[in-house]
Amino acid sequence: MPQDATVVDHPLVRHKLSLMRAKDTPTAEFRQLLRETALLLGYEVLHDLPLTTQTIETPLAPMEAPKLEGKKLVLVSILRAGTGLLDGLLDLVPAARVGHIGLYRDPETLEAIEYYFKVPGNLEDRQVVVVDPMLATGHSAIAAVARLKQAGAKSIKFLCLLAAPEGVAAFEAAHPDVPVFTAAIDDHLNDHGYIIPGLGDAGDRLYGTK
Ligand code: URA
Repeated sequence: MPQDATVVDHPLVRHKLSLMRAKDTPTAEFRQLLRETALLLGYEVLHDLPLTTQTIETPLAPMEAPKLEGKKLVLVSILRAGTGLLDGLLDLVPAARVGHIGLYRDPETLEAIEYYFKVPGNLEDRQVVVVDPMLATGHSAIAAVARLKQAGAKSIKFLCLLAAPEGVAAFEAAHPDVPVFTAAIDDHLNDHGYIIPGLGDAGDRLYGTK
């Protein structure tokens, strides 16, 4: 198993992930669980966010209080399932800027094809966190990060819910400078590029499209 991905294995994350994996978990519950899990994963992935200070008055005394430099953070969602993680992260950091990258998997080659790209400017000055629930073959994540680097991003992290060992290895080979955070690394990919045991198609589970 690749060593470098950070697995956030807090009991709450593991419990919620089990509920999401179960095939009978309804869409609304799945969506809520993903949002809650994103909060917990976000706590870990954003542990080194830059702080500034501001003078405030408590009821008893003035103090220099630490504050987030919220505008420095950009969350980039890989459509469409990335939005499920994005919503939870925005609950944590409402001032973050948001980008979207539309990629679909060619069903034959499993390669990522881009159909949409819209991100904030000055990426070179920002911490970018790319989110997609499933790091399967790694093709979409690799293509998204390559595109963000091309657009100027220098400091990037990748956050997913579930990863396959094959996807982590491919991603780390392509982007060794981009740390990966995940709730779990599963057993393997099947011939159709699905993570086993996994949770099925994250977009379908999230939006009830199957
Ligand atoms: N994308 C998904 O939604 N699920 C998988 O198992 C693999 C890729």
